[in-house]
Amino acid sequence: MSLPRRSLLRAASGALALVPLGGVTVLRAADPDPLAPWAEAPRAAAHPDPRIRALSWAVLAPNPHNRQPWIAELPAAAPDTVVLRCDLDRRLPVTDPFDRQITIGLGAFAELCRLAAAEEGRAVAVSPFPEGEPGPRLDGRPVAILRFGAPGSAAPDPLFRQAAARRSAKRPYDTARPVAAESLAALGRVVAAPVRFGGTTDPDRVATIRDIAWRSWQIEATTEAAHLESVNLMRFGRTGVAANPDGISVWGPGIEEGVAAGQITRESMLPGGAGYRFMIERYAPMLAATPAYVWLTTGRGRADQLAAGRDWLRVNLAATAAGLSVHPLSQALQEFPEVAGPYAEMHGALAPDGATVQMLARLGYAAPVPPTPRWPVETRIRAV
Ligand SMILES: Cc1cc2nc3c(=O)[nH]c(=O)nc-3n(C[C@H](O)[C@H](O)[C@H](O)COP(=O)(O)O)c2cc1C
Repeated sequence: MSLPRRSLLRAASGALALVPLGGVTVLRAADPDPLAPWAEAPRAAAHPDPRIRALSWAVLAPNPHNRQPWIAELPAAAPDTVVLRCDLDRRLPVTDPFDRQITIGLGAFAELCRLAAAEEGRAVAVSPFPEGEPGPRLDGRPVAILRFGAPGSAAPDPLFRQAAARRSAKRPYDTARPVAAESLAALGRVVAAPVRFGGTTDPDRVATIRDIAWRSWQIEATTEAAHLESVNLMRFGRTGVAANPDGISVWGPGIEEGVAAGQITRESMLPGGAGYRFMIERYAPMLAATPAYVWLTTGRGRADQLAAGRDWLRVNLAATAAGLSVHPLSQALQEFPEVAGPYAEMHGALAPDGATVQMLARLGYAAPVPPTPRWPVETRIRAV
């Protein structure tokens, strides 16, 4: 008796599963490693659909709280098109009440998709908000249409070579190793209108920014709804992270034991708990160990937010190429009422011309950090 191929695969290995991916079926680990999408992206080069090949990279984009708010629709009637929408359940309503940061993350996704396609010679035209700019929050309308060109329509961008190594490095930076003015200027060169680049290595200015950033970080940590939004998105230990490879992953060497012993729990992250104290003890010296800051400003409007996300990805890649690390620090840029004072101070310091500061990040040299988890690309794609 001959078994169908699917059953044979199941019988051969309980750890494998056949997964539909953009019109073809691929073999995947049934119990996937939360970091597997980082290895899958280069392997997707074998996929027949250029959109899937590029989207496999795009899911590795930086994004707030690692919510991965993207849905990539693949219209059957338009094989050269991806319709990018926001997964409205993956927003951060307390700390990002107007979905500004979420839109930045979607911009980073669009730019990484474009760079991945350019790597194989295809242009991707990104049309922001083709059915209008939603406000005050995002809605079900497309965030962008990504139209893929023919082979030979684009040249590779050297920034793409950093895509697998790019990180948000949340750790102390080497204060004995200053960032050279030319290194800062090189980051600015990958940014284009309507986005404007700012940065400083000046110790007085660094100290001013750090002071505002630290005070706003403390406000977020002591504002119950804002802090709970983060705590509710924490995933504890490898099992918790594998079940939900998004949000704030509390896992890795030294942590697994604490999770298994019931010492590192969601409750321990609330004020008074050991996890909460650990978090504060980690952040204060980390912010102190910051030799430079970079920031991006734009005008208002959704298209500018999307552009800021595209350019943040580029700055992050350019920093990686230069051996530099970046760590976004968004608390003073957030629009919830409790943080309005530091918001005004930070805008006064970085954008006295009335622009919106879309991204602010620490910049410096740091030891390498591991990648963050991702949902597999097939979970973020819809055939329509
Ligand atoms: C708009 C935006 C805001 C962010 N804000 C913060 C922040 O305030 N603090 C922080 O530690 N990381 C912040 N990040 C970094 C994300 O946490 C990070 O991109 C995500 O966890 C994925 O990790 P990766 O960039 O290393 O792939 C931000 C990223 C984006 C795009």
